[in-house]
Amino acid sequence: MTTLTVDDVTLTYPDGSERITALDSVNLRVDGGRIAAITGPSGSGKSSLLAVTSTLLRPDSGRVLLETCSGTVDLAGLNRREAATLRRERIGMVFQQPNLIPALTAAEQLEVMAHLGGRRSITRRRSHEIRSRARDLLDAVGLSAHEHKRPSQLSGGQRQRIDIARALMNDPALLVIDEPTSALDSERGAAVMDLILRIVRDHAAPTLLVTHDRAHLHRMDAVYRMVDGVLGTETGELVV
Ligand SMILES: Nc1ncnc2c1ncn2[C@@H]1O[C@H](COP(=O)(O)OP(=O)(O)OP(=O)(O)O)[C@@H](O)[C@H]1O
Ligand SMILES: [Mg+2]
Repeated sequence: MTTLTVDDVTLTYPDGSERITALDSVNLRVDGGRIAAITGPSGSGKSSLLAVTSTLLRPDSGRVLLETCSGTVDLAGLNRREAATLRRERIGMVFQQPNLIPALTAAEQLEVMAHLGGRRSITRRRSHEIRSRARDLLDAVGLSAHEHKRPSQLSGGQRQRIDIARALMNDPALLVIDEPTSALDSERGAAVMDLILRIVRDHAAPTLLVTHDRAHLHRMDAVYRMVDGVLGTETGELVV
């Protein structure tokens, strides 16, 4: 079983001659197949926590342990190169705004994930596997009929669903998802959340999900609230 443990993580950003504390001794544990939801006001540090967890930012102190059957890695202790490799191979990320590549079709957005960083040329058999996995994932997000369309030919919600499918392309050991329903109406938002819940259970990856959408919080395995970089529970208790 995979487990994510955020252990006493502090992150500061330069702010003129001073530094501002975006994450203040944050602790959190999420098991595989579970979703921890993070809520909290704008600017409180939610995206920063996802950036640290997904190795995009290195914290000032603390550890981010990803425990899998092949061992435990401290994501906060990796160098840039190790972090980039791990991100590409083991971490699925969905950003606040879907950042799809304008020139690629829906299917290609997913397929390109399997080709990133590869040095060896890909066999015909492997290429067939990649294509069929992309097709299965597009089917899982209800977009098989749109696999040949480019982002400009798709709605905001359809793009968001492609973004989620793409994050799963490499079968991640860890998923971080930032505001997946922010651009959606409540019906589509519910459908995207259903999809995320199903996928997280199926893939057994620990998942951190930032959301402002209170309607779905009761379906999450745990709900935390970030205020000024401090992570607490919904009822205001500090997580230690
Ligand atoms: N690259 C950066 N450099 C300096 N300060 C930053 C940087 N990124 C974020 N911050 C600051 O860190 C704090 C936390 O930002 P963060 O993006 O984590 O908030 P958030 O909770 O995700 O907000 P929102 O709900 O608006 O997305 C804010 O005060 C923000 O201004
Ligand atoms: Mg944010």
